[in-house]
Amino acid sequence: MKPIRVFAVIIVVLAAAVGGALGVSTALSMAAPDAAQPSVKSEAEPEAAQLLHPEFDLSMNELRNLVSAAPVEAQEAVLARPQYFLELMKKAMKLPADYLVLVDKQNRLPSDYVPHDLVRLNEYSDRILLNRSDLSLRRALMPDLLAMIEAAEQDGISLLVSSTYRSYDYQAGLFQRNVERFGEERARTFSAEPGASQHQLGTAIDFGDITPAFAETAAGRWVRDHAHIFGFSLSYPQGFEELTGYIWEPWHYRWITRLGSEIEQEFFGGIQQHFLEFFDAAEPQLRSALESGSRE
Ligand code: DAL
Ligand code: ZN
Repeated sequence: MKPIRVFAVIIVVLAAAVGGALGVSTALSMAAPDAAQPSVKSEAEPEAAQLLHPEFDLSMNELRNLVSAAPVEAQEAVLARPQYFLELMKKAMKLPADYLVLVDKQNRLPSDYVPHDLVRLNEYSDRILLNRSDLSLRRALMPDLLAMIEAAEQDGISLLVSSTYRSYDYQAGLFQRNVERFGEERARTFSAEPGASQHQLGTAIDFGDITPAFAETAAGRWVRDHAHIFGFSLSYPQGFEELTGYIWEPWHYRWITRLGSEIEQEFFGGIQQHFLEFFDAAEPQLRSALESGSRE
């Protein structure tokens, strides 16, 4: 073999060796993510099982299951801020049960349920514009109602309070009169059967003239934009008639406390029915997670 040929062979062999080595290293680097996957996964699993909040015996996976029946947007909001959510839930579970109880066509109050702290609004007639003289509400919400009325007045708005607490028997008579006047099918779209009315809670208020036109009055717009700040929530919003079982009632607000309102706004898109349905379904499990978490 001539020296030049020997040199050429050496170059070819070297090139092949280097190429091979490069090839191997490329394959290794390409294989690296696959090879690393099992360990990433095995690290992720314990993480999902880790506790989210020091006082709740609840993992991320358990929380994910707990919110799985809520609308997707609510699930995402909860899972994005689980610590904040659980802290608010912890406080919500300390409220009297009837502040956040679900009352709708499927979930009724007993006929003998009467809130224990009703006050007559006549006592506040210097500060509240009343449509009639026999109205009453729970004492617990009066500070928030008075603060809301005050704030509205600062903006030049006066809020007329038209309907408030209704007893089981009063609601029975009202529903019956509505059935006689409008027929049963129509009456059911805007009038609750006895036991199914939020008015029996003593925390629901109808404002203004109780007509759809209220929505476009200055007071209707003001209360729509500000009520949540004071713990009041629109119970029957437009576009959610199937969910709530009732037509849009821009005049009907329920006090769910400022804390409840924060939860509803931050996690449930401001839709009361979504929040209270979730709370109704999830509360027992959340409560036992809180109890066993607090024991540890
Ligand atoms: N208007 C509401 C649904 C009620 O009767 O309580
Ligand atoms: Zn009402």
